[in-house]
Amino acid sequence: MGDIQMYNFKVTSIIHDYEVHFIDSLKQSIDSVLMEGDYIIIDNIVKDLYDEYLQDALDTHKFIGIDANEKTKSYQGVESVIEELIQNGFRKNHRLVAIGGGITQDVTAFISSIMYRGVNWIFYPTTMLAQGDSCIGSKTSINFGRFKNQVGGFYPPSYIYIFPPFKDTLKEKEIRSGMGEMLHYFIVSGKEDFDFYRDTFKAAFTEKDALSGIINKSLEIKKRYIEIDEFDKKERQVFNYGHTFGHAIESLTQYRIPHGIAVSYGMDMSNFVSVKMGLIPSEVRDEIREVTSYIWEGYPIDDIDIDTYINALSKDKKNVGMQLGLILNKGYGNIFKNLTDSDKTFREWIEEYFLNELK
Ligand SMILES: NC(=O)c1ccc[n+]([C@@H]2O[C@H](COP(=O)([O-])OP(=O)(O)OC[C@H]3O[C@@H](n4cnc5c(N)ncnc54)[C@H](O)[C@@H]3O)[C@@H](O)[C@H]2O)c1
Ligand SMILES: [Zn+2]
Repeated sequence: MGDIQMYNFKVTSIIHDYEVHFIDSLKQSIDSVLMEGDYIIIDNIVKDLYDEYLQDALDTHKFIGIDANEKTKSYQGVESVIEELIQNGFRKNHRLVAIGGGITQDVTAFISSIMYRGVNWIFYPTTMLAQGDSCIGSKTSINFGRFKNQVGGFYPPSYIYIFPPFKDTLKEKEIRSGMGEMLHYFIVSGKEDFDFYRDTFKAAFTEKDALSGIINKSLEIKKRYIEIDEFDKKERQVFNYGHTFGHAIESLTQYRIPHGIAVSYGMDMSNFVSVKMGLIPSEVRDEIREVTSYIWEGYPIDDIDIDTYINALSKDKKNVGMQLGLILNKGYGNIFKNLTDSDKTFREWIEEYFLNELK
């Protein structure tokens, strides 16, 4: 209990400050936190899996179960949720309580930000990605039809309650994805934090305390950046490290490769390009690759077509004119944005990566 309390912290936000609490009993927390009028928005899978802990809350509060997919998380998909809330007496002084992963978070955050000019909301993140990354940072984007994350803003919850054992029911792929997503924070932060991650992450796949430590550290690093650049104008952009390369992998594999695994490949590709440009010695890339290759094990990407891949990179929203807005590596704690020409040399590097570096 003492250990878990130690992890709690507050995030300062331009919209309103909010608190992150690590909890060791889901039922106790839910039963004591929820108040009359609170309306639960819950991932249907989580609802079934955690039935015994949630039953009392679901019996005493109104709730809407959602299917956690990208279609639900869309401008069109939230319509029915909003309609149900209005029809069932949800009021401005009531709160929404999200229980689920990043999808449930984005749906609830978006609705909270627009209903009655803003209602308070609370979040119980249930995936590793949501616990170790997305739960803080205030972003609320949802999809518009098939266009991903095109509509939204910034609107944090009031409280976030992290229950690390939610990991126990996640699919292995989701665990790898969460571990990969958290890794990029540690490299952006510096060598000491990277070493901590490298020495702890294997244990975090199975041990609760190791996992809590990594989640906590990941959020602590992210907190430092969002508190100075909440609206993602400048400093926060380094967290796109691995993401330009990664998004192209996600979309070209039709999301067979989940986000955090794609980001792990993306970080390695960014490091590969950084070595080619003489920004880091190959030893740095090799050291990070020992971790990333462990994370992507069992999820190969060697079927991606190189031309299609380069074409996908050219669509990234961070590009300026004909140049790619890549986040590159000058060393631990020295990740930076670089406008890179998508020329013949760059193409040769990508080709070399796909042909030689994935073995
Ligand atoms: N707002 C942000 O800052 C932010 C940041 C990163 C990602 N995202 C968004 O988050 C979404 C991805 O979220 P995610 O990776 O957390 O996954 P998710 O919400 O899509 O959930 C993944 C799967 O796991 C299931 N699930 C959730 N919790 C579970 C549990 N404890 N046990 C078993 N199954 C469980 C879900 O039903 C779903 O099938 C994307 O839409 C992405 O765009 C948002
Ligand atoms: Zn990410």
